[in-house]
Amino acid sequence: MGKAAFDDTANLPEGLVGLIGKSEVSLTIADYTRPDCPLVAANQKFFDLCGYDEAEVIGKNCRFLQPEGGAGPVRKRMREYLDDPRATDAKFVVPNVTKQGEPFLNVIYMSKLTRNDRTELILGSQFRMGNAMKEMAALYDRALSEDLRQLNLLTNESNWVVLGSFEALASSHSIIAQSKFE
Ligand SMILES: Cc1cc2nc3c(=O)[nH]c(=O)nc-3n(C[C@H](O)[C@H](O)[C@H](O)COP(=O)(O)O)c2cc1C
Repeated sequence: MGKAAFDDTANLPEGLVGLIGKSEVSLTIADYTRPDCPLVAANQKFFDLCGYDEAEVIGKNCRFLQPEGGAGPVRKRMREYLDDPRATDAKFVVPNVTKQGEPFLNVIYMSKLTRNDRTELILGSQFRMGNAMKEMAALYDRALSEDLRQLNLLTNESNWVVLGSFEALASSHSIIAQSKFE
């Protein structure tokens, strides 16, 4: 079983940390109720992807991965998605930089976890664009769909609701191809 780090003062659905620890994809959880929406959980796949460790990540807003010169217009689109109460889930392609200083394009999927109709947590999943992309993207899509299916089962037994039609999940590869023309 993989590792996951979490802030034990955060109010997370039962079983969530175990689920993200087991995941084959990079998963992060941010607390939307806290000032500046800090990360409260992340798995080893995320630490591997960005090169930072848990002490450097938990408690921080995930924008620290964006380049010094800024991430461009996609940053505003992420902000708007997070603050739009009607928005459920979405995918973004964002320029990021690893701890080692290596720039990469990060395909970020976000979904909201609500309780009593209030957005409390955001699930974020990261996918690093690179070689053998089509095959990797297909594997990634399958693994993330499975995690979301399990998260839905897990939250069905409680008063948590995972928002999203999961349409935004469709084909990371086509989103990557489109982003080249933006
Ligand atoms: C759960 C979660 C994971 C995120 N992961 C990343 C990431 O890996 N890279 C990134 O550049 N931004 C990521 N973001 C987006 C930023 O944290 C931030 O929301 C975005 O930059 C827009 O807000 P700002 O204008 O306040 O920076 C993530 C957001 C959330 C909620």
